[in-house]
Amino acid sequence: MSVEVAVIPAAGKGTRMRPATRSVPKPLIPVLEKPAIQYVVEEAVAAGAQEVVFVLSDERILHHFTEGPPIEGLEDVVFRYVLQEEALGLGHAVLCARDIVGDRPFTCLLSDRFPLPGSTLLSEMAEAFDGRMVLALEEVEPELISLYGVVDATADGPHWQVSGAVEKPRPEDAPSNLALVGRYVFPSSVFDHITASGPGALGEIQVTDAINSLARAEGAVGFTCTEELLDTGLPHGLAEATVAVA
Ligand code: G1P
Repeated sequence: MSVEVAVIPAAGKGTRMRPATRSVPKPLIPVLEKPAIQYVVEEAVAAGAQEVVFVLSDERILHHFTEGPPIEGLEDVVFRYVLQEEALGLGHAVLCARDIVGDRPFTCLLSDRFPLPGSTLLSEMAEAFDGRMVLALEEVEPELISLYGVVDATADGPHWQVSGAVEKPRPEDAPSNLALVGRYVFPSSVFDHITASGPGALGEIQVTDAINSLARAEGAVGFTCTEELLDTGLPHGLAEATVAVA
C-alpha cells in the first residue's frame, strides 16, 4: 500500500546537545554539509512520502526546506507543520499532527536517528502495510533495554507478530529484547489510542502506550532492522554519524 504522508516529530529541546542547541535547533545540526533532519526527510520521501508534516517547537526547521531555492530531490514535496506548544511526550507530538493527517495512514520517523542513505527499511515497511501498524525493531542488550520502548512479539516468517509494547521497562520486566527504533507505519486509528492513553512512563504521553493498545486491538507487524541507525541526539553519536556518512 502506498503511504503518502510522513510525520516527523522534531520539537525536542536538545538538552543533550548543549551548548550547540542554545542557538541552533538540534535537527539542524549538520552531519557533514546537511542538517540531520534532511537525511530523515529524504528517507521518508524515498519510502513514498509526498507530504511531510513536522511537529516543531521552532519554525526554523521548516524554513530550511521552504525558503530559498527548492532542495534537489525534494522539489515536489509538500511541507506542512504544526507547533507542539508544550513538551508533553512523543505520543502527544504525534497527536498534534492529527488535523493535518486526518484519516490517512502515515509513516512516522523520529528525527534523532537515521540509517545510512540508501536504506530500504522504511520503504519495505510501507510496502508491507496492509492496514495493521508496522514497527521497526532492533535487538538490544539487557543493560540498554530501559532506554527504549520494548515489544512483546512472536516470530512470524521473516517478521514478527507484535502483541504489545511497554515504554522503558526495567530489564527484568522487559517482554523481549526487541526495541522500537523510531520508525513506524501507523493507521490513523493510532490517534484514538493516543487520546485514550493517559500519561505513562516519565509522566509523558507515550506513543508506546498507544502502540500497546493498538497492537492488542488490531495486531501489528514487526520488522527487524538489520542496519545500524545513526544517533545524532548525543555528541558522540553525532561524531559517529559524521564519520559513517563521510
Ligand atoms: C523514543 C521512544 C522509544 C523508542 C526510542 C527509539 O525514546 O519513546 O519508545 O524506543 O525513541 O530511539 P527516547 O529516545 O526519545 O527517549
